[in-house]
Amino acid sequence: MSDDQGWVTAAKRSDLAAGDVLGVVLSGREIALYDLDGDVYATDDVCTHAYAKLSDGFLDRDEIECPLHAGRFDVRTGKATAPPCTDDLQTYPVRIVGDAIQVKLA
Ligand code: FES
Repeated sequence: MSDDQGWVTAAKRSDLAAGDVLGVVLSGREIALYDLDGDVYATDDVCTHAYAKLSDGFLDRDEIECPLHAGRFDVRTGKATAPPCTDDLQTYPVRIVGDAIQVKLA
């Protein structure tokens, strides 16, 4: 669903549990949503090392660990923090509107 100025509803806020990660597809793009102490962040869901979905990985405080080779990224900045990942992840602005998590893709 498209909303104003490029914001797209990604999920219900209540679908993302505390400390959890949720994979969604928005406009054909695979996006991972993360809850860090109640704040929501969004990055690309596909690892920059090879094809694996980070939403199938393990969220360890503010880092997501890839399920395939255990590379890591800071979900707040997208920065690659552990090998074999060297390329950073794309991040997206997030806002909460009522019970909706919205992501700005453009
Ligand atoms: S595919 Fe993610 S670390 Fe290799």
